[in-house]
Amino acid sequence: MTRVRCDQTKAWGALQAHYDEAGRRFTLREAFAADPKRFEALSQSAPFVFADLSKNLVDARTEALLLALARECGLEAHRDAMFEGRHINATEDRAVLHTLLRRPASEPATGALASPFGDVQSTLAAMLAYAEEIRADHTITDVVNIGIGGSDLGPQMAVLALEQFAAPGKRFHFVSNVDGHELAGILRGLAPEHTLFLIASKTFTTAETMTNAQSARRWFEQSGGVDVARHFAALTTNVEAARAFGIETTFGFWDWVGGRYSLWSAIGLPIALAIGAEGFRGLLAGAHAMDEHFRTAPLAQNLPVRLGLLDVWYRNFHRFTSRSIAPYHSALKRLPAYLQQLEMESNGKRVDMAGAPLAFGTSPVLWGEPGTNGQHAYFQMLHQGTDVTPLEFIAVRDAAHDLPGHHAKLLANALAQAQALMVGQADAGGHKDFPGNRPSTFFVFEQLTPESLGAFLALYEHRVFTSGALWGINSFDQWGVELGKVLARDIEPRLASGDVAGLDASTAGLLARLRPRA
Ligand code: F6P
Repeated sequence: MTRVRCDQTKAWGALQAHYDEAGRRFTLREAFAADPKRFEALSQSAPFVFADLSKNLVDARTEALLLALARECGLEAHRDAMFEGRHINATEDRAVLHTLLRRPASEPATGALASPFGDVQSTLAAMLAYAEEIRADHTITDVVNIGIGGSDLGPQMAVLALEQFAAPGKRFHFVSNVDGHELAGILRGLAPEHTLFLIASKTFTTAETMTNAQSARRWFEQSGGVDVARHFAALTTNVEAARAFGIETTFGFWDWVGGRYSLWSAIGLPIALAIGAEGFRGLLAGAHAMDEHFRTAPLAQNLPVRLGLLDVWYRNFHRFTSRSIAPYHSALKRLPAYLQQLEMESNGKRVDMAGAPLAFGTSPVLWGEPGTNGQHAYFQMLHQGTDVTPLEFIAVRDAAHDLPGHHAKLLANALAQAQALMVGQADAGGHKDFPGNRPSTFFVFEQLTPESLGAFLALYEHRVFTSGALWGINSFDQWGVELGKVLARDIEPRLASGDVAGLDASTAGLLARLRPRA
């Protein structure tokens, strides 16, 4: 079945009519009063994650029409095409197979996927063996991951999230920015003989990473480091370039793993170093369980599908432009940044698969901070501002510490914020009134573990897949990052030479101000 773009379906018109007649006047208070079973009907269990969707601006008709939209767009066939390894990343003529990275050895892939699956398994085994070797090597006390975007955000977020499972004795550092302040600050606290550098880059050409990698090697040699081969490893699809750089220990992956989908591959080595081979396999197992849920659950009980459909409803009918993430767990501090790349680099597109401009919105802006911090910063705007921003609460039932009182306060705050956003407060008088009816989704994990984190990340991947599939875009390329890279290459030598020929007046004026003074 071929893909049909959402705005070319019958369901799209029906959804617009439904929005005009009922959707825009929908109130949560009335919906809960009218339906005592609303929580049950609009909550969904999936592997390792429970989601309460009932505080969203949807009723049974909205869900039915959105499901009809998904079917008309060919969502299931598109999903199956991804799992089968078809080249759904058409603008780069690539398959999209990050799900294969999570598939357990006990379920070997067949047909065209048998050979890539064999490569995945052997690379995983080698990488995990290396991780265990380094974990046992107590002379290595510091691991520095040098990478950016997908080669940084996933491992950094997960190492922090799973800190409670990390073996003591090793510190993890992440260097992404070409801003030398970052690398210089980290190097100041390191001794070369105790440091392992991981150069993480899918392409092994990214300017920031190559610059940082060269500086790290120079520092290593100038600080008396010996044996680059022992102290540097590369995680890349471009093993040849890594060898040319002088790195002998390399762990590869493949062009069918997108950068923002790569923490499951060799890019995840820092995670394996932190939580061990068993923990890393747990992360993969959680994600695989969610893959199976996405692949097999009926659309109406399929959590990533329900979330992706909600995203389309909010973006294209309510026309909400942003979504806020509120993890009520400080270890999930970097989750909003990770999800930003996942969703905004995947679905921040303005043309369809055929290159035709779209007349509707795609990726919202994603942003957020851990709760309760956000409450004391920007929640004012969420409660009483002029824009409606759907919010996503992420709460973990069991704390991983034993400080009395804290966890109940934390969870009470998450529940209270979701409640306040929904019920609001009338008649308190002018400035003290809350409009309420502000939507939120509430995710619950029982514990934050490698398995539940893996499942949650896969849930998000498939949710982004769902909205992207309906919008008719390619969620797996990122051409929008290229122009700036090309222009930076042109500008860099001009900072030294002062040549502004051919530059616009603004860029020329700024360049003159930023040039180093003699
Ligand atoms: O510039 C964007 C991007 O290509 C991301 O998609 C990617 O995650 C990041 O750069 C890093 O790329 P690489 O892993 O090839 O260094």
